[in-house]
Amino acid sequence: MRLFLTRCLLVFTLFSTTDLFATTTVVKAGYVLDVYSGEWQKDRLIFIEDDRISSVQSSATTIPEDAIIVDLSQQYILPGLMDMHTHLVGHLDTDFYAHLFQSPHRAVIGGVVNAQKTLMAGFTTVRNLGASDYTDVALRNAINANEVPGPRIAASGPALGITGGHCDGNALNHSFESKADGVADGPWAVRQMVRKNVKYGVDVIKFCATGGVLSKGTKVGMRQYTLEEMQALVDEAHIHGKTVAAHAHGTEGINFAIQAGVDSIEHASFLDKESIQLANKNGAAFSMDVYVTEYILSKGIENGIPQENINKERKVGTKQRQGFTMAVKSKAKMVFGTDAGVYPHGDNAKQFSRMVKFGMTPIEAIQAATINSATLLNWQENLGTIQAGKLADLIAVKEDPLKDIAVLESVDFVMKAGVVYKQ
Ligand code: ARG
Repeated sequence: MRLFLTRCLLVFTLFSTTDLFATTTVVKAGYVLDVYSGEWQKDRLIFIEDDRISSVQSSATTIPEDAIIVDLSQQYILPGLMDMHTHLVGHLDTDFYAHLFQSPHRAVIGGVVNAQKTLMAGFTTVRNLGASDYTDVALRNAINANEVPGPRIAASGPALGITGGHCDGNALNHSFESKADGVADGPWAVRQMVRKNVKYGVDVIKFCATGGVLSKGTKVGMRQYTLEEMQALVDEAHIHGKTVAAHAHGTEGINFAIQAGVDSIEHASFLDKESIQLANKNGAAFSMDVYVTEYILSKGIENGIPQENINKERKVGTKQRQGFTMAVKSKAKMVFGTDAGVYPHGDNAKQFSRMVKFGMTPIEAIQAATINSATLLNWQENLGTIQAGKLADLIAVKEDPLKDIAVLESVDFVMKAGVVYKQ
């Protein structure tokens, strides 16, 4: 046994000797957050080889001479933040109807700018939920190829929805014959649309299970899709190894979607006790955008949002916050999702203080944006904590966010996969 161990050590040493030729980065960290316990580990050295963390050591550990040193010894270090609901492509936040006049090509250039803002705000991973023409897939690929800076993206491509539903485009009259890319009615059409999205490279499937606030003529409380259609959609997505995100405000739509097996409920405005029980039983997470209502109600008219939609927001906002408090109390699985794009990109972290205001402890809000989101994406082996073996996604702030969560609104340092983007 001892011989075997010695051999293993020898092999390990040989490998690590060759590894010495690769660059090692060492982050001198003042405080490193353990996101599970909410404890700070003081004075650590985070060793990074290429894109991954190789170890987290005490500050007494010897640093290799040729290592690149990043001095964050006065800072608080957290894993890169994750936003499970963004709309990176386009300019929804400042001009409500911009998408009608913008080519997808122009919109994706906006997406490049938005992606950079998001990364600089400390969000190293996002889920993009809903983009026509697979523009978010294109953006993801350009970021992955290191052509433009941005967060790691789990892209949905076009969101699936019923004819005339929240995920259709209903602004133009019928003579334009306009229809959103993801419209599919009936179980087989829905399966085909999932297959098409998979064919064109999406990571996740999004669909609309109820009406919405910002669409024309839809009712927020009304279910869209039958249970049969939702089951077909989820089954097809899961066969392909893709998770499913359901936009749902109304109670029936939320509960049908969870019964159908979705992985996350977006907005979840009118969730009830049954929704929480079903979600806890089926392992679904809630992604509740509890900041955006403030932006829509204060800036909506100025940005051209019609009165019809402002009125719907008034119905939704308060209920959603109450539902959020109830879900937190009931220990529902919560992730961090903002709907950024409806409000300015880069302001994603403003939601943290609202999550705390409506019932979370600061560490719970941080867990939502790190380990819980990583788990929802099925990327928990790679992301969500600062541990050996994980991708080196790190952010730093000057003060303790567990004392004042709003400090996450001004992130000083951003590293994604071992590359420093902001210092
Ligand atoms: N995209 C969502 C919709 O149109 C925005 C909802 C925003 N409101 C809220 N309170 N979360 O339905």
